[in-house]
Parts: sequence; structure tokens; C-alpha cells
Amino acid sequence: MKNEKLQQILKSALEDIAASQTSEDIANCRNKYLAKKSELSGMSSLIGTLPPEERKDFGAEVFQTKSEITRLIEEKSKELQNKELEAKLAKETIDISLPGRELNPGSRNPFYIVKDEMIDIFLGMGFEVADGPEVETDKFNFELLNIPQDHPARDMQDTFYINDTELLRTHTSPVQAHTMEKAAGKPIRIICPGKTYRRDDDDATHSHQFAQIEGLVVDKDINIGHLKATLELFAKRMFGEKREIRLRSSYFPFTEPSVEVDITCANCGGKGCNMCKGTGYIEILGGGMVHPNVLKMNGYDPEQYSGFAFGIGIERVAILRYGIDDIRKFYQNDVRFLHQFKKKA
Ligand code: PHE
Repeated sequence: MKNEKLQQILKSALEDIAASQTSEDIANCRNKYLAKKSELSGMSSLIGTLPPEERKDFGAEVFQTKSEITRLIEEKSKELQNKELEAKLAKETIDISLPGRELNPGSRNPFYIVKDEMIDIFLGMGFEVADGPEVETDKFNFELLNIPQDHPARDMQDTFYINDTELLRTHTSPVQAHTMEKAAGKPIRIICPGKTYRRDDDDATHSHQFAQIEGLVVDKDINIGHLKATLELFAKRMFGEKREIRLRSSYFPFTEPSVEVDITCANCGGKGCNMCKGTGYIEILGGGMVHPNVLKMNGYDPEQYSGFAFGIGIERVAILRYGIDDIRKFYQNDVRFLHQFKKKA
């Protein structure tokens, strides 16, 4: 190589490359010798200014210098990268004797455990599961259930109104009317589990959203004995063979007669204690014989058909079943609460 300047650049580059210890050093070399603003690039732009007879040789020398420096930098760069990787691997040894990370599977909310159990019990008795909308019309939530506009019974079931005619259903009973409409005069034996809403201030025993399981049987010759036997079987399957039930007279506009059903208190066995407020019994549900007006309004002749219906609060059953002290716990998703219901493997 004849050009002194190029010789000098190459020499200096060789020294710098040889002295590079890290990939950062070599990146600096790349910058210094090959970047657009480097001395070598400056030399390239000189080529065009030379007389034609000198151009070829000088151009070749510049090109040669550049290739040589590029090759050396790439070589060194690879070497340093390998070295650094090796050092990193040596430092980051994995301790295969460490225990694995524990997987922490969730647990089912007791609400769903109890809901499924309740459904199973009724399926075992030959009921089918029906469904209905949570956003209901006034007609289905109230009127077809014998609760006309301005009926005082509406006070007990204040709810969230979407507009003048639509609301969040206050009970699962509107599904009675939907089912009768669909069955169009044929016998019925359904349950309907679902969400319900009321305008309540939330506290330990009230929740603006809760859930019920509705039951409806319509056929010829259905009497209150059928209602009692069905609910007695449910109570025993759900709470244990020793439980007795008691029917107390009550009032619902859509059943006549209406009953409130109590079970004997598990805590005292019926003698009377704090839990049952001294009565020996705990209320679990409401029901009754389907009111003739309801049968008539929904297409059944009350002279020929009769039926019974009931509505059970799912949270209430879960609360009694597990001794839960606050209804809000079903909805708060606190894992300390939920993990108590983890299935033992
Ligand atoms: N719908 C009633 C309630 O929510 C319960 C009920 C259902 C009563 C069916 C009688 C028959 O309070």
C-alpha cells in the first residue's frame, strides 16, 4: 500500500481492535473506522477529485483498507460475544434442586357448590331446568302473577327500573308465566335457578342482587301434599335425614294458600337456641298452590288444572349449610373466604 494516510489508519485500527476487550469497545471501533463521518469515509470521497490515472489505484487501496478493517472488526466482535455469553452462562447456573413454583388453583364459590347440589336434587325428582330473562317486563314480573299496578304487595319488591315497563326481576317467579305460555296447556314440572334483584341497602343479611330457584308443577290433581312431600325430600337431601319441615301459613298474591317453609334448626335439633331465635325452626323458602287467577291468565283452566310453586333463596341455603355469617361474602371474591371451600384432593 502506497498511501501513507491509509497505512496509518489501518495501523491504528489494528491496534484498537486488538486492544478491544468488550463488545462495547468493538462497537466503538466500528464507529470510529467505518461510520460515515470516519476518516476512511473521508478518504473515499476524495476518489472523485483525483485525476483519472490515479483514481483506480487509490480507489482500490481505500476499498482494500475498508474490507480489511471490516473483516477484523466482525471477527473480533464474534469472539467477544462468545466470550461474554460463556461468562454469563457460567455465572447463571441453574439450581435444579430448587422446588418448583407452587400452582395455586382456585376454589369454587360455595354459592355455586350449593346451587349445583340444589339443581341435582330437583333433577333427581324429575324436574327440568327452565330459563327466563333477568330484565323483565312489568307484565311478567307482576301482572301475570296476580300483582296488578298499585297492588300493595309491590312494596315488598321494589326494584331497579329500566323504564316504565322494564325492570330487573325481583324474583324468579316470572319464569312461571313464561313456562306456562310456552307449555300452552300441557303439564309442567320445572325449576328455574337464576339471579334476582331488589332495591335494598346491602348489609350482612341483604343484598341488592341475590339468587333463587323457582319451582313450578302444573298438572291435573296436584294438591298441597305434593308440595309438602317435594320440599320435605329437598330439605332432607340438602340438610340431612334428621331434618323436619313445617309449613306456616303465609301470603303471596300468586299462590293460594301460601306457605312459608321452615326446617328444624341444626344447631339445637328443634329445642330452641340463639341461631333459631328460640323457635327451633329456621325459615328456608316460600311457596303455595298456584292461584287460580294465575293459571287462568297464563292459559290453564283452574277447574281442570292445579299446581304448586315455590321459591328458594340460594344464598340462604348456602348460609345455613355452611354457617356463613354475611351474604356479601359470596360476592367479594376474597380468597381467604373461598379457599375454605377447597375440595380436599
Ligand atoms: N317469589 C316469591 C318471593 O320471591 C317466592 C315464591 C315463589 C312464593 C313461588 C310462592 C311461590 O318471595
